[in-house]
Amino acid sequence: MKYKSQKIAYLFFATCLLLLSLQIVYGFIMGFARIGMDGLHDWLPYNVARTTHTNLLVVWLLTGFMGAAYFMIPDEAGRELYSPKLAIIQYASWVLVGVVAVIGFHFQWWEGRKFLEIPRPLDFLVVVNVLLFLFNIGMTIWQGKRFSTTGLVMFFGLFSAALLYLPGMIYFDNQTADSFFRWWVVHLWVEGVWELIMGAILAYLLIKLTGIDREVVEKWLYVVVGLTFLSGILGTGHHYYWIGTPGYWLMVGGVFSALEPLAFLAMAIWAIQMYRKSGRQHPNQIGLYWTMGCAIMSFVGAGFLGFAHTWPQVNQWTHGTLVTAMHGHMAFWGAYAMLVLAIIAYAMPMMTGRKLWNNLTGYLAFWTANIGMVGMTGALAVAGISQVYLERKLGLDFLVVQKEIQVHFVGMLLAASLFATGIILYIINFIRFGLPKDEAMIPEDSGDDVAALNTRLQTA
Ligand code: HEM
Ligand code: HEM
Ligand SMILES: [Fe+2]
Repeated sequence: MKYKSQKIAYLFFATCLLLLSLQIVYGFIMGFARIGMDGLHDWLPYNVARTTHTNLLVVWLLTGFMGAAYFMIPDEAGRELYSPKLAIIQYASWVLVGVVAVIGFHFQWWEGRKFLEIPRPLDFLVVVNVLLFLFNIGMTIWQGKRFSTTGLVMFFGLFSAALLYLPGMIYFDNQTADSFFRWWVVHLWVEGVWELIMGAILAYLLIKLTGIDREVVEKWLYVVVGLTFLSGILGTGHHYYWIGTPGYWLMVGGVFSALEPLAFLAMAIWAIQMYRKSGRQHPNQIGLYWTMGCAIMSFVGAGFLGFAHTWPQVNQWTHGTLVTAMHGHMAFWGAYAMLVLAIIAYAMPMMTGRKLWNNLTGYLAFWTANIGMVGMTGALAVAGISQVYLERKLGLDFLVVQKEIQVHFVGMLLAASLFATGIILYIINFIRFGLPKDEAMIPEDSGDDVAALNTRLQTA
C-alpha cells in the first residue's frame, strides 16, 4: 500500500466477513427448517430468517464495495483519502444502521420489498451515509494527481448505485407499480451498475496481478461497460413478464436479457486473456485465484444460469421457484461475493506486510467454498426442476410439493457445510494477517513493481 489512509479499508473488510458469517447462519436456519428441523420457528420464522439472509447479503457486499473503494481510489488517484476522519464516521454510522436493521427484522420491522426490506426511516439514514461516502471518494478523485479510467468507472458505478436506490423508496399502493420500481433497484443494480463496480475492481486487480499495461486492461473495461448498458437496461423486462405490465415486455425483456451473458462472457475472456499474456508471476497467487474464479464463476452463475430461465417460454414455468434461488446463489456468489473476497485477498498482504499469499489454508478455502457452492446450486437445481414439474405441470398443491422435494435440502445442507468450511478457512487466513501496519508502506513512486513490493514486505 502506498497511502496510510488505505488502511481504512480493513474496517470494512473485517465487518463484511463478519456479516457474511451471519448470513450463512441464517442460511443454515432456513436449510434445517426445510428438512423439518424448525425448532426456532416461534422466535425466528422462515420469513424472518429469509429477510435477514438476503438483506445481510446486500449489506455485506456493499460494505465490501466501500472497502474496495477506500483501498483502490487513493491508489488510483495518487493521493491520500480526502478525509480519513469522515471515512471513520461513515463506517460507524453504516454499521449502526445495519445493526438496527437486522435487529428490527426480528421484530418484523420492515417494508415488504424483497431484498430491500429496510424500513423507510433507516432508508434516509442510508442515503445520508452513502452521500458522505461518495463525497469522500469523489473529492479524493477530484483532487488527485490523475484521473484513471478504473477509478472513474468505480465512482460512476457507486454513484449510480446510490441514485438507483431512490426509486425503491417511493411508496405505491399499486402492486404492479411497486414491483415495477423495485426492479429498478434490484435488477439495475446486479445486472447494471454493480457490473461497472465489478469491471472496475477486476480491472484494478488485473493491472496489479498480471502486470499487463493499464491501457490494455482498461480498453476491455470500456467493452464491458458498453455490453452491460446495451443489454442490462432493457433486460429489466425479464422481470416484467407476469406482474401486470404491458405485453411488449415479453419481447423486449426476452431479447435484451438474452444478451446479458455477453458482458459476463467478456469479463471471463478478459481475465483469461490477461492471465495468459502476463509475463510475470505475481507472488499473490491466492489473490489471482479469487480474481480468475470471480470472472469465470460469474459467467456460470449469472450468464449461463441466468440465460437458462430468462426466455418467457421458460420463465412462465420456473418463475418464483427454487430454480430462481438456484441461479440467485451462484450468480451472487460468482459475481459479487468472489469479487469482494478477491480484493480482500489482494489487499491484505499489501496492508499488513505479511506474505500469506500462497498457503494451504488459502487454497483450501478457495476450493472448498467453490465446490460447496456448486453442490448447493446443484441441489437447488434438482429441487427447483422437481418443483416446477410437480407443481406446475402436474398441478399438485404447493405445500405437498414442498414436502416432496424436502430430501434435496439434505443434499443442500451437506454442500453448504463444505461451503461454510471454505469460508471459515478464508476467515482464519484473514485473522492470521493481523492488523494493517505502516511498515507495509511502499514508496509512492514505486509503480506497481513486484520487486519493490517483495523487498519491502516482511516474511510471514
Ligand atoms: C451477477 C448478476 C446477477 C445476479 C446477482 C442475479 C441474481 C438474481 C436473483 C437474486 C434473482 C431473484 C430475484 C427476486 O426474485 O427477487 C434473480 C432473478 C432472475 N435472474 Fe438473475 N442475477 C444476475 C444476472 C442475471 C442474468 C445475466 C440473467 C439473464 C441472462 C438473469 C436472469 C434472471 C431471471 C430471468 C430472473 C427471474 C426469475 C423468476 O422469474 O423468478 N440474471 N437473479
Ligand atoms: C450455508 C450457506 C447457505 C444456505 C444453507 C442458504 C440457504 C438459503 C435458503 C434455504 C434460501 C431460501 C430459499 C427459498 O425458500 O426461497 C436462500 C435464499 C437466498 N440465498 Fe442463501 N444460503 C446460503 C448461503 C448463501 C450465500 C453465500 C449467498 C450469496 C452469495 C446466498 C444468496 C441467497 C439469495 C440471493 C437468496 C434469495 C434467492 C431468491 O430470491 O430466490 N445464500 N438461501
Ligand atoms: Fe434481472
